[in-house]
Amino acid sequence: MHHFALLDGVLHAEDVPLPAIAKAVGTPCYIYSAATFVRHYRVFAGALAAAGVPHLVCYAMKANSNQAVLSLLAHEGAGMDVVSGGELMRAQAAGVPGERIVFSGVGKTDAELAAALDAGILCFNAESESELFRLSAIAVEKGIRAPVSLRVNPDVDAKTHAKIATGASETKFGIPVSRARGIYAEAAALPGLKVSGVDMHIGSQITSLDPFGHAFQVLGDLLDALRSDGHAIDHIDLGGGLGVPYEVARPDPPLPEEYAALVARHANRFGCRVILEPGRMIAANAGILLTRVIHRKTGEAKTFLVADAAMNDLIRPTLYDAHHEVWSVERRPGEEEPVDIVGPVCETGDYLALGRPMPPVERGDLLAIMTAGAYGAVQASTYNTRTLVPEVLVSGHRFHVVRPAFAPAEQIARESVPDWIDEASA
Ligand code: LLP
Repeated sequence: MHHFALLDGVLHAEDVPLPAIAKAVGTPCYIYSAATFVRHYRVFAGALAAAGVPHLVCYAMKANSNQAVLSLLAHEGAGMDVVSGGELMRAQAAGVPGERIVFSGVGKTDAELAAALDAGILCFNAESESELFRLSAIAVEKGIRAPVSLRVNPDVDAKTHAKIATGASETKFGIPVSRARGIYAEAAALPGLKVSGVDMHIGSQITSLDPFGHAFQVLGDLLDALRSDGHAIDHIDLGGGLGVPYEVARPDPPLPEEYAALVARHANRFGCRVILEPGRMIAANAGILLTRVIHRKTGEAKTFLVADAAMNDLIRPTLYDAHHEVWSVERRPGEEEPVDIVGPVCETGDYLALGRPMPPVERGDLLAIMTAGAYGAVQASTYNTRTLVPEVLVSGHRFHVVRPAFAPAEQIARESVPDWIDEASA
């Protein structure tokens, strides 16, 4: 469910017609619906509460880390899953207290570990023995103990795109479940650590409950073993990964309520607080990418709509063969025809949609690339010296530019040419 809908033939974000935003802000731009973010968070957290699961939702902010979005979710009581010193800084800037922050990631630097210790975070989700040793040493220097979980790789097939599956044994993530007890024993013996939890994350855009169920079973077995080894485990972190509907033609992924019911079935056995790290489920359908058609072009075999948004703005179609629905902001009457919607970047892989049936679209028309609120703006780049596009948050009748454009003039101004440059080319 989201709050982008046609009203009198014009696509709106909540109560704001999209052409009004295009006029005020320009295109392309990302547009987020505050009501949709809040709704998704409440549906997810509410389903866990209704299922009787003692829980903390730590939003995986890598999906969309705009400060306005984080502030909105922090206000709802969300915790945050951070994966870098930068994200930690963002969570703190949004007012998220340390006791609601978990730190994931396979390569945390000493500086990042130290910053998170200073922030008093809830838990470090460690991914290697090497990380445990570093974390312990840094905590000892500070005279404290770091709360730690080990991210365990349950070796399940998440049945998602290979680039975003993380739970199989051949990926770089986590420690193998077969070695977990031994490594937990090592962790417990380190002077700067306090073993407090168990962690997993098996991948993203998962559209069936089976891989989750399998992984929860593996983690439950491990939890029993760890408790019998004498570890005081006070929480289990089940990661994120619940898929969202991108494509009308595909069956919908499980509902948050169904996912929560599955978590609840395992939660009794876990017997501790459950942490969840949803990202996409909260953010994806809360945002769109608004773009204008620069040219309509007929090729030998195809019709192309050349949009002003490109792969640098939304890389998902190019990188993961992802499907995003494309809606005309003001639909023209007439037959649908298949078109390729491409951007201006000089690469064949620069497209937003291929062979997509669309109603008639003319130069100057606005298109909405749907379900772009997660892994959209955060993965954008300035490739081809393009603008990092603005982000806009809508709430009811209001809208606000929550991040302005980062335009070529500013990009150039940030670069520096040494005064010996002529000698270097002599
Ligand atoms: N927790 C950890 C440790 C993660 O690595 C991730 C995502 C999440 C939680 C959140 O997963 P979600 O609920 O959003 O599925 N850029 C890709 C997705 C990469 C996901 C990386 N990890 C895409 O655009 O599809």
